[in-house]
Amino acid sequence: MKTYNWGILGTGFIARKMAEALLFVPQSKLYAVGSRNMDTAKAFAGQYNVEKGYDSYDALARDPNIDIVYIATPHNLHYENTMMSLDHGKHVLCEKPFAVNGREVRAMINMAMEKNCFLMEAMWTRFLPGLIKVKELVDSGRIGRIRLLTADFGIHLPFDPNHRLYNKKLIGGSLLDLGIYPLFLSLLLLGKPKNSKAMAGMGTTGVDHNCSFTLGYDNDTLAVLYSSIVAKTDIMASIYGENGTIVFDNWWYMPVPVKLITPDGKEEYLNRKSVGNGYNYEATELIQCLEKGKIQSDLMSWENSLLLIDTLDAIRKEIGLVYEGHDDVLWLKPGEQRFL
Ligand SMILES: NC(=O)c1ccc[n+]([C@@H]2O[C@H](COP(=O)([O-])OP(=O)(O)OC[C@H]3O[C@@H](n4cnc5c(N)ncnc54)[C@H](OP(=O)(O)O)[C@@H]3O)[C@@H](O)[C@H]2O)c1
Repeated sequence: MKTYNWGILGTGFIARKMAEALLFVPQSKLYAVGSRNMDTAKAFAGQYNVEKGYDSYDALARDPNIDIVYIATPHNLHYENTMMSLDHGKHVLCEKPFAVNGREVRAMINMAMEKNCFLMEAMWTRFLPGLIKVKELVDSGRIGRIRLLTADFGIHLPFDPNHRLYNKKLIGGSLLDLGIYPLFLSLLLLGKPKNSKAMAGMGTTGVDHNCSFTLGYDNDTLAVLYSSIVAKTDIMASIYGENGTIVFDNWWYMPVPVKLITPDGKEEYLNRKSVGNGYNYEATELIQCLEKGKIQSDLMSWENSLLLIDTLDAIRKEIGLVYEGHDDVLWLKPGEQRFL
């Protein structure tokens, strides 16, 4: 059986989580890490037993021994890092948000098709056993038609204009970093909305501190969602169907207990204990796709990522959140080809 060599770009919070997770992923070896700084690369390589440390992302992407690149850099670099890795023939798992806007994501998908390389957005929640079960239950009609979905993700991050979440150049703000999770849940379970209405509280650095957005579906079904980087919220998700309710424990986007509440009040837990720190599930899905010769996952497909980014673009248009240097390409020009 083939062992796949992974390279990680970036050495921050999520890069470390993935380094720990890869120990639980079959046919995988964390082989290299790329940093902007050699000392940081060496320290990371030493801590996680990584064979190669590189002092640039480009040097890592050029290593012919690497099969898969995991992109763990700030949002502003996702497009550039993905295009470079695909161009060197690497399979790519890129952190969320996949890129800043729909045009960047379309170019990434086009490049993956051209190079015949796997490409997936690292929306790790999609692959957690609890959410897999919820999706099966909802699709099977167990709770009937969904009438209301509520989900939030708010943290209180002390103000620091240089932190990636407050820094506009690093594509800060609550919506693209945290609001993307409740939005993803709604799109997964309810599909493309008929309409949406959004409002944001903007901060002094020009990014959204609070963002609330409501999606409208057929008849009177609504998804009521919000995110924050200035207020620690409950981080709950509930799905209210005609024949039952599904409730995630708080920190719902993580591996947490999920329960089904029937109309007569009976409660049933849907998921068993998961293994690893949870990030292993998305990486395992990637390996399974490669083994089947697939270049995209059915669970988090390119179409899923396009719906996500196009809805984020629509919300950003409404709240007036423009990221200079990226959003000069925010909207497709008239007559421009879409890839899907
Ligand atoms: N799936 C999840 O649960 C999850 C959780 C957290 C974050 N994320 C995503 O992962 C990405 C990284 O987030 P993070 O929390 O890991 O961030 P972080 O701790 O700040 O790490 C980002 C890394 O990117 C590199 N980098 C390159 N240019 C940078 C710049 N101008 N400023 C700061 N760092 C820069 C740095 O590595 P070097 O200095 O070594 O080059 C840094 O360690 C984000 O897109 C975020 O949305 C996902």
